[in-house]
Amino acid sequence: MDKIKTMTMEWTGNSLIFIDQRFLPLEEIYVECKTYQDVAKSIKDMVVRGAPAIGASAAFGYVLGAKQNQHYNEKDRFFQEMQNVKKVLGGTRPTAVNLFWALNRMEKVMEDNLEEKNVKEIIDILEKEALNIAYEDIEINKAIGRNGEKLLDDGDAVLTHCNAGALATVDYGTALGVIRAAVENGKRIHVYVDETRPYLQGARLTVWELMKSGIKTTLISDNMAGWVMKQQKINAVIVGADRIARNGDFANKIGTYSVAVLAKKHGIPFYVAAPLSTIDIETENGNAIPIEERNKDEVRFCYKTRVVRDDVDVYNPAFDVTPHELVTAIITEKGVIRQPYEKNIPSLFV
Ligand code: MRU
Repeated sequence: MDKIKTMTMEWTGNSLIFIDQRFLPLEEIYVECKTYQDVAKSIKDMVVRGAPAIGASAAFGYVLGAKQNQHYNEKDRFFQEMQNVKKVLGGTRPTAVNLFWALNRMEKVMEDNLEEKNVKEIIDILEKEALNIAYEDIEINKAIGRNGEKLLDDGDAVLTHCNAGALATVDYGTALGVIRAAVENGKRIHVYVDETRPYLQGARLTVWELMKSGIKTTLISDNMAGWVMKQQKINAVIVGADRIARNGDFANKIGTYSVAVLAKKHGIPFYVAAPLSTIDIETENGNAIPIEERNKDEVRFCYKTRVVRDDVDVYNPAFDVTPHELVTAIITEKGVIRQPYEKNIPSLFV
């Protein structure tokens, strides 16, 4: 398997092609990245987004970087150049830990082979590793789906925030993977989707993806979530994560925290679906998670329409941190874990 093609990305052997998520669902445009700099720009500009998708993209970006430096037969120089490739790719978005997880995994493979192999052989090994990361991601999401779907009953309505679907991963999705697995298992599931201002990942991406898969979908604006819960329309909340700290606090798309507080108030189970690569065991709690702030125009505009003057002051944190007390369970490929997270999260890694 030397290629991969999903809805989110395609590795051709010499380039990485993305569906441009900035224009969905109105336009289906594709962006071809031929260099690691192109991949870095696509991650930064959110052509591709979602923690596992960012990780896999960075791995392929690293391979492109290696190919761009293949003329350095002298391994020290090649190694030096690859450190720069890693730095550029790692400098794109700070919150999703999958980015750093994937780059560290790629770098380790390079280091492990530096003594024995020549540059050409190392590049082949790196390409295999990036493909492994991508293929594994799909299998991991399916395992998350199998583990999580047991938490849902036939006829349940689920609220989700942002997009933790096929578009946020290599394929299948984490939070949406759980929903997909339940539906594949014959359960009737109705999904309420928060529109997810300012970037509208819920309205633009999640709704598009769920409707494509024939899953019953209702879009609400973010400020409707509390009322919809109060009306007893929601049986469970499932979201993805960008980084889960050792104690179970986790960063996800801005607005997730509010949804978790509302779920607690209404006695609705609140689940986080994420692979082990999203768990940052080195980070003790949510206070230490770096939160990306994005361009203020994302708030001044609603999609492409300006809603306020450009001198209006704006604060635009792209993520928030939800404390672990609000999390009913974390659904991983290794199983579903519950509190106490300080004990149960580290046990996933033994
Ligand atoms: O800014 P984004 O669109 O990259 O944020 C994405 C999210 O917050 C997702 O919920 C998270 O990455 C999980 S994706 C499986």
